[in-house]
Amino acid sequence: MFKEKIKGWCLKMLNWGISKISYQKPLRRSDYQDKYRMMLRDWLIYHQKEIVFDQVTWMGIPILKNVLDAWIYQEILYEVQPHVVIEIGSRYGGSTKYFADIMGILGKGEVVSIDMDRSVYDLEHERVTALTGNSSDPEILSAVEERCKNKTVMVIQDGDHRMPQVLEDLENYSKFVSINSYFIIEDGIVDLYHHGDSLGFEEKGPLAAIEEFLSHNSHFAIDSSRERYLLTYNPKGFLKRIS
Ligand SMILES: C[S@@+](CC[C@H](N)C(=O)[O-])C[C@H]1O[C@@H](n2cnc3c(N)ncnc32)[C@H](O)[C@@H]1O
Repeated sequence: MFKEKIKGWCLKMLNWGISKISYQKPLRRSDYQDKYRMMLRDWLIYHQKEIVFDQVTWMGIPILKNVLDAWIYQEILYEVQPHVVIEIGSRYGGSTKYFADIMGILGKGEVVSIDMDRSVYDLEHERVTALTGNSSDPEILSAVEERCKNKTVMVIQDGDHRMPQVLEDLENYSKFVSINSYFIIEDGIVDLYHHGDSLGFEEKGPLAAIEEFLSHNSHFAIDSSRERYLLTYNPKGFLKRIS
């Protein structure tokens, strides 16, 4: 009985506290309207400067992605149902776990994640194989080839974003991608900004590599429907294998 009374008083106090907070800070629509006036271009800079490096996590592990892109990845994984996702660039392992968890929900597949630096990687997962080394190393390439034999494969390049390495990864890994599956090249957005405005690179990046690759490879086509949320880091980066 006494316990019930205490519980009642506590609930009253809590409700009083909540109503006091909302009286003290009334909803100001103008605060939101100011934010909504931001250009999409500025939102991407805001996201790059203030969000992506330390305020996005998947199940507690940092994941360096625009979450709108992550949602698109989930849609592609569901549609393609790959046996193997090759990820170039694991970093903390947040994206690796994200793909592996979705594959767990689908009930099939594994992630083979490559990185040459394991100093901040922190992931143990039954669906993940971590390969340590440079994506261009012959040993890494033959380990990948071994795992991809007769499998439905998808590749995600989120390693070195400079044009020569992206192009090398495209040339080395495109043969593993199955027909109707994808080779996703991340962060071509750096080519759409200027050096010094937080997103731009001093040198050519992924977008330049994609354009060069597609100029001599007709097995892939850009699937621009994957950019439909507009706020993507991967312009022209969703390459579908068509033949
Ligand atoms: C942008 S981070 C990856 C982020 C991660 N995919 C995510 O979304 O959370 C890039 C990673 O690629 C690795 N890297 C860069 N160039 C590489 C290469 N040629 N081979 C293997 N790993 C590379 C770096 O060590 C770094 O950890």
